[in-house]
Amino acid sequence: MKGLVNWEALQKLSFGPAYERMNSDPAKMWGQTAVMYNKMVQLEKEYTKSQVETFILEPEDTVLDIGCGPGRLAIPVAQKVARVTALDVAPQMLEVCEGNARLAGVDNLYTRLLNWDDAIIGDNLEQHDVVIASRSAGLHDLVKLNGAARKYVFVLSFAQSPSLKHARDSLFIGASEEVKPLPPMNRMLGYNLTFNILYDLGIDPSLKVVTDGFTGSYGSRLEAYDDLRVLCEFPPENEHIFRSNVDKWLLDNPDGSCTFRIETKTYIMWWEPKPLNV
Ligand SMILES: C[S@@+](CC[C@H](N)C(=O)[O-])C[C@H]1O[C@@H](n2cnc3c(N)ncnc32)[C@H](O)[C@@H]1O
Repeated sequence: MKGLVNWEALQKLSFGPAYERMNSDPAKMWGQTAVMYNKMVQLEKEYTKSQVETFILEPEDTVLDIGCGPGRLAIPVAQKVARVTALDVAPQMLEVCEGNARLAGVDNLYTRLLNWDDAIIGDNLEQHDVVIASRSAGLHDLVKLNGAARKYVFVLSFAQSPSLKHARDSLFIGASEEVKPLPPMNRMLGYNLTFNILYDLGIDPSLKVVTDGFTGSYGSRLEAYDDLRVLCEFPPENEHIFRSNVDKWLLDNPDGSCTFRIETKTYIMWWEPKPLNV
């Protein structure tokens, strides 16, 4: 059913030119970010738990994680279900994901190198009980996601609050030439679009918004600088700019240690797949 508003067109606008750039060669673009993204995922671990707790999972389920990255969700999900297919277009991301799975003692996660755009459900990719698309290419075709799942589809992304890139960039702005100021997220072009597209397809999605963020404990400020410095290259003469950026997110503890914390929000939207009004 076509609704009164063309939500898909608005969603395309919301992706902007960055989306076109990413899609021209996603394997290359995302492969280059694998190490940085994985480091941010380690800082996000504590906050990721509430996202995994929101998923409706049974021990016998098979799960497909589209654009799994370093396995931020795929690995904790694998600890709760029978089998996870961790699909990604970037071999470097899958390598990191496999390493993380080994470290976590997970042996029921199977990586799959595939561009989601080339996936044909029932042909080169089977249906799974639960499908997850988090901050990924999967979010751009909700009809395809609906067809990939037997029990539930979960879509997730930042809820009109700082994204992982905003958080990372806030540490290097002014220090690295590579980091340009990003416009703040626009609430008018947020998960409301995804919700309305699903609504017009005949779905009544559920929605939860949870606190997300990046945090780490360090023995000292110097230890924090050393750990976070690896997230982006910058010339040594800009060290003072980097440190003053990091200082904004550090809290000193009475015992001399300090805590790094940047908080944001993530939405989780889910539905039971069904025939659609297309
Ligand atoms: C922002 S990361 C999200 C990682 C993970 N889902 C999470 O929530 O942390 C996006 C991931 O999607 C993958 N990706 C981008 N375009 C893709 C495509 N067309 N097909 C499959 N994976 C894709 C990237 O390689 C990257 O690992």
